[in-house]
Amino acid sequence: MKTGEVLVIDLFAGPGGLGEGISSVKHANGNAPFQIGISVEKEPSAHKTLTTRAFYRKVQDTKHGRSSYNAYLNGELTREELFELFPQKAEEAQQETLYSPHALGDDNQDIHQRIHQLVTAHGERPKVVIGGPPCQAYSLAGRSRNAGIKDYKAEKDHRNFLYKEYLKVLSIAQPDVFVMENVRGILSAKIDGELIFPNILRDLRSPSRITKISTPRYKVFSLVVDTENVNNPTDFLIRSENYGVPQARHRVILLGVRADITSVPGVLTQREEQTTVEQVLSDLPKLRSGFSKRKDEVKEWEIAVSKNGVQVKKLLKKQFKNTQELDLKPFNKLNRSETQPVIYPEKMPSHLIQWYRSNAPTCVLNHETRGHMESDLLRYAFSAAYTKLSGGTSPKARDFPDALAPDHENWKSGAHADRFRTQAANKCSTTVTSHISKDGHYFIHYDPKQCRSLTVREAARLQTFPDNYKFEGNRTQQYVQVGNAVPPYLAQQIGKVVMELLDH
Ligand SMILES: C[S@@+](CC[C@H](N)C(=O)[O-])C[C@H]1O[C@@H](n2cnc3c(N)ncnc32)[C@H](O)[C@@H]1O
Repeated sequence: MKTGEVLVIDLFAGPGGLGEGISSVKHANGNAPFQIGISVEKEPSAHKTLTTRAFYRKVQDTKHGRSSYNAYLNGELTREELFELFPQKAEEAQQETLYSPHALGDDNQDIHQRIHQLVTAHGERPKVVIGGPPCQAYSLAGRSRNAGIKDYKAEKDHRNFLYKEYLKVLSIAQPDVFVMENVRGILSAKIDGELIFPNILRDLRSPSRITKISTPRYKVFSLVVDTENVNNPTDFLIRSENYGVPQARHRVILLGVRADITSVPGVLTQREEQTTVEQVLSDLPKLRSGFSKRKDEVKEWEIAVSKNGVQVKKLLKKQFKNTQELDLKPFNKLNRSETQPVIYPEKMPSHLIQWYRSNAPTCVLNHETRGHMESDLLRYAFSAAYTKLSGGTSPKARDFPDALAPDHENWKSGAHADRFRTQAANKCSTTVTSHISKDGHYFIHYDPKQCRSLTVREAARLQTFPDNYKFEGNRTQQYVQVGNAVPPYLAQQIGKVVMELLDH
């Protein structure tokens, strides 16, 4: 296939994880067949991230393009100045993201019209629709939130029906293939007591049932189970950690193939070894956390962390024999953010080195810590040190001494048992969710001497975003974007399966 042969229509695009992975797929001859024609996203900061990345993809092939983009990352150019250097590419990037945030459902006239134009111009060449209708209403966290809302009715929550917007686009574009991602909760979500997943599958197989527009039928395949007749809905579940992603992220991913296409798609190839947190984070500059709700000075931080270290050692002596191995003395004069890369011994597995570092920026992006309550710093130190001594098991609430119990009614009840969770160095991480934007307690760095939660860049590494992927917006918005995304490295593997199918 030629470069740009396959038109990609990206819906509910978030910061663009799926699109990034798919557009990075290359043939053995160097051609990149997938070309994103449109990315639709309603949230302004994610939309800005998408536009920046769309621009980067359009200029990355020239030296001037790469160096100018890097100058933007370094802060030597503003985004406006960068775009002015390449007005044509900037115009194309902005057209790709529709010039402004757009919501499927509310802004369908613009969105559908642009998709029509693109599909018509693309003619008989292959087309792919990708994207995941948002997950809040299906996700387990979303459901428990909804349970607290008086008079909440799932059948009235429009977020439960956004997949119908996806169907409308299938009817307009009639793509060869679609990729639809969602959270695991979609498999068990119910409306009016009825499971919705079988209905979603039925509608995806036959979009015209809902759209009333004549549309081809689709066969829906799993990317991990090698059969057309998937027996169990969990056969659609992809465990990202088995595919080179350093994170246990389990997502339902459906691969739809237009019924007239007779080739059968392959499945993803599992890796023998899982990638660990330390392998992908250890080369990032060390940082200290900040204090919230009190003066934030490095000397004060060092004193507090040093005191905490002594107390943590004492507390852990009761549970572990090897506490003398623990070094909890704070590092000297750490900063809260660093942009200068550091050369530490390489721990990264070979499959990810090039992936993270292709056209690596000369600075480290989005690597800045948050402030924490002083009392939480002690808990962080305890959690990280416990995890280290136990060989990679983060302590549950019951493992915390009473002296460290937070003032929380149901601290010891099941719901909060994992409240201070360290991402163990020697394992893959737990799922990076958008909750990381609220507080860092579930995402504590494994190094007790840094005593902090993960930065946006670290979360982005766990999600396999390349190092030059710039997240726009404020820090909270950046965390949300990272937590929402499909890991691009996984998406690339999905893209390869699609490319092979379309090549047949
Ligand atoms: C789970 S995220 C998608 C992640 C994306 N597929 C990726 O790989 O990065 C869902 C996104 O849909 C966006 N969204 C929600 N409702 C929308 C709507 N009606 N139209 C467009 N975008 C919407 C949300 O803002 C969120 O960024």
